[in-house]
Amino acid sequence: MSILLAPSMLSANFGQLDKDVELVNEGAADWFHLDIMDGVFVPNISYGFPVVKAMAKKARKPLDAHLMIVDPDRYLSNFAELGVEWLSVHYEACTHLHRTIQAIKALGMKAGVALNPHTSITLIEDILMDVDYVLIMSVNPGFGGQSFIGNALDKVRRLKRMIDEKGAKCLIQVDGGVTTKNARALEEAGADVLVAGSAVFGAQDPMEAMRLIKG
Ligand code: DX5
Ligand code: ZN
Repeated sequence: MSILLAPSMLSANFGQLDKDVELVNEGAADWFHLDIMDGVFVPNISYGFPVVKAMAKKARKPLDAHLMIVDPDRYLSNFAELGVEWLSVHYEACTHLHRTIQAIKALGMKAGVALNPHTSITLIEDILMDVDYVLIMSVNPGFGGQSFIGNALDKVRRLKRMIDEKGAKCLIQVDGGVTTKNARALEEAGADVLVAGSAVFGAQDPMEAMRLIKG
């Protein structure tokens, strides 16, 4: 399986959102990555349900929502109703992560757990068999356009080893500072899904950027 690419719509032009949704529909991308920020878990507010709904209406590829919010349990069903297929919550935001993961799956979505750069992969050892994907944050969440934190590469390698040893089936997603330059190294380290915002929408030629990140 070649690596999957999920462009982050946070870097899209909101003044012409339809056009950027179409770019992802037509390009080499595989999923839409939707960053939901509440201004509490992260020091930024992105967009909410009306904008997700507008994108969902035009999107012809799976929607992957990354919840950077406290108490995500309150909103899981809203995302299911909007047609989100992949939903990740932060380890750091969930006291009862196992319950939250089961609730996401009961709603018919694939469940992911996201880890901040400082959060050790050893902390998810006991939830690994239950999740469909692990999102390794390679920047501190909250903003697009930040530089890749180098430790994430080794973290992906170690997580890949842990997944193989346990015989788990989950995918590894990497988010933050992903570019055409580090995509291959991440793929070799074991990443299955790359999220890229500014490297796609900030590129001179976003179609070419998507092709290059896919490899
Ligand atoms: C950061 C978000 C990312 C971000 C990625 O909090 O989770 O998805 O939009 O943007 P780039 O690819 O520009 O680092
Ligand atoms: Zn994200």
